Amino acid sequence: MKKPKVFVSRLLPDEALEHLRASCEVEVNGADRTLTPVELKKRLDGSAGLVSLLTDAVGDDVLATPGLKCVSNVAVGHNNVDVAAATRRKVLVTNTPGVLTETTADFAWALMMAAARRIPEADRYTRRGLYQGWDIMSMLGVDVHNKTLGLVGFGRIGVAMAQRAKGFGMRVLYSDVKRAPEDLESAVSARHATLSSLLSQSDFVSVHVPLSPETRHLIGAKELGEMKRTAVLINTARGAVIDEAALVAALRKGTIFAAGLDVYENEPDMAPGLAELDNVVLAPHIASASSATRTRMAMIAASDMVAALEGRRPSHLVNPEALG
Ligand code: DGY
Repeated sequence: MKKPKVFVSRLLPDEALEHLRASCEVEVNGADRTLTPVELKKRLDGSAGLVSLLTDAVGDDVLATPGLKCVSNVAVGHNNVDVAAATRRKVLVTNTPGVLTETTADFAWALMMAAARRIPEADRYTRRGLYQGWDIMSMLGVDVHNKTLGLVGFGRIGVAMAQRAKGFGMRVLYSDVKRAPEDLESAVSARHATLSSLLSQSDFVSVHVPLSPETRHLIGAKELGEMKRTAVLINTARGAVIDEAALVAALRKGTIFAAGLDVYENEPDMAPGLAELDNVVLAPHIASASSATRTRMAMIAASDMVAALEGRRPSHLVNPEALG
């Protein structure tokens, strides 16, 4: 029997490609760049499956590829895929939740520590040969221990942040459209709050909501103004949840103390002025980037693709309605 064709939009870890090759005819985009939607559509011709990355814009046009059955997105976030259009066209969409939870929370924590204690700034200072000896007034940051952590979004990664906060003796607040079950709240000692009350009480605010029309610019000038002047804002979710231009203005004016960002509104671009600020720690969307985690993400996407093309239900289906 002829193997179904799968197009892989960027090079993946070998293990995942081998898994796909065992039951599919696999074509990989070997170019070291993201394909435009027009290029993607062209390369997808004749494919039953697309293994995409979060940098691929998978809109209705791409989804209209005749014979396309499944898009496996190698990310937990799937805002790059028009899921409604996929459902209409009965194309299954899968993602990779769970395997990146702890790695992402580790990194959000690292950003929090780095921004609070000014580690990248101190590193730049030391390398430039500016260190002239211990100075009681130099590089003063803010403490993390015993402070209040506000989690905007209390899904898997938010909960993993709350677990880490215990070790630092922190009080944890969370805001979410859904209130968590009481046993989970008490297991991680987290208390539900409205966004506004969380912002005004927290010393650290960490964003863990998916990007949707409802969460776009959830944190803008008004919300930044509600935060403490000593607060630190962390984002490892999606850039557009924060109004980046408003954040630049707030960091410049000292409305908040600092920020740590792994994601940007228009990746890979950054809002004008952001990279010139000392009170922001910037990373290139690497929160899930440990070799083990990235391999696990690619493996899940590959196995779900194989399942979908063999007529089995993928383990991480975003749009079960497409099955009906
Ligand atoms: C995701 O999976 O959505 C992250 O942004 C990248 O790991």
